[in-house]
Amino acid sequence: MRGEIKDAALAPSGVLRVEWADGQMPVLRRIRERFARERPLEGVRVGACLHVTTETANLVRTLVAGGAQVALCASNPLSTQDDVAAALVVEYGVPTFAVRGEDRTTYYRHIQQVLDTRPHLTLDDGADLVTTLHRERTDVLPGVRGGTEETTTGVVRLRAMARSGALRYPIVAVNDAKTKHWFDNRYGTGQSAVDGILRATNVLLAGRTVVVCGYGSCGRGVAARARGMGAHVLVTEVDPLAALEAVMDGFPVVPMAEAARRGEVFVTVTGNRDVIRREHFEVMRDGAVLANAGHFDVEIDVAGLRALSTRTRRVREHVEEFTLPDGRRLYLLAEGRLVNLAAAEGHPAAVMDMSFANQALCVEWLVRSAGELAPRVYPVPEEIDRQVAALKLEAMGVRIDQLTPEQRRYLESWEEGT
Ligand code: ADE
Repeated sequence: MRGEIKDAALAPSGVLRVEWADGQMPVLRRIRERFARERPLEGVRVGACLHVTTETANLVRTLVAGGAQVALCASNPLSTQDDVAAALVVEYGVPTFAVRGEDRTTYYRHIQQVLDTRPHLTLDDGADLVTTLHRERTDVLPGVRGGTEETTTGVVRLRAMARSGALRYPIVAVNDAKTKHWFDNRYGTGQSAVDGILRATNVLLAGRTVVVCGYGSCGRGVAARARGMGAHVLVTEVDPLAALEAVMDGFPVVPMAEAARRGEVFVTVTGNRDVIRREHFEVMRDGAVLANAGHFDVEIDVAGLRALSTRTRRVREHVEEFTLPDGRRLYLLAEGRLVNLAAAEGHPAAVMDMSFANQALCVEWLVRSAGELAPRVYPVPEEIDRQVAALKLEAMGVRIDQLTPEQRRYLESWEEGT
């Protein structure tokens, strides 16, 4: 057995759950069947740093079917599903380095262990693998041909690396494919963040004031789902365009100082740090629930909350109670880490189907074209985006119309007017 996991005996339960998710991932399955026939990734070593979930296992199985040798570590210390990690090692033969709840040192050691396999391609979710590779493992860099990045936060970091001239190989921003962020960020984060909050607390959302901090594609999803369950949703923003969109979607937009006084459940989804901080804790209502659905655990100033509190205790599996000097209690979910992956199972498989179909097809594209690419951040090729959408519609049994020759000509011409 290769890798470092919690318990190999969990493998049978992991296999059942991976297969269940596979039932919701028809696009990825079709790609896997083609990969098994064509073997486009023969001999390619892939180092992946992704949330170790049932959906990721199906992506890894797809790459392996294509001929790749994959090593996997976690992209968040709290998101690993230990039974899936066991299934990957025992049943699917994939070296996996991930234990749910691992500390920071172990988390980075696992990244190093994946880099020790000297990958030709990196798959990252948040860019911790890529930044570690560039900072500490330049010995591995010469063999790396390309990579992919799954999430908004990672793409932001990689663009900063490219701008400063630090990025040494081409990376495809999978996040920016329409078939990724239009669906995964909105419907995936929307549903799974609410799912995480409910599994952690079992609070009734109907009639409750929910504050969504950040109205990007993830924030839009959370706000829409919370409203759908009867919550009064307030939005906070720093970007005028996003704020305007929230207003016209019918959400009151207020400054954080006001939201802090009014909110009962807070969800941060901004990609930035210290969104909820001391001045906000100081005015919150007794019993307020604080959750983060952004990639890193920096959006809620947990250290500040701890410093302000006179007492803390764990009151449910994913809920820590902080008592403030005046007796008010605030409830932090999942240590301020991604609530949807720590307290629930992450995005549902049906939406990860599209995200990971993009990943698999981008890996294939990189293997074909890496020699021609410069070290910068590339968009997902449009043909891949369209192919994923078409396959998903087909799998859902949805048919669409074709342009007539006259319509095509009309769209391509400029002569016809009033
Ligand atoms: N990111 C969000 N949800 C996920 C999931 N279910 N699997 C892998 N990565 C994810």
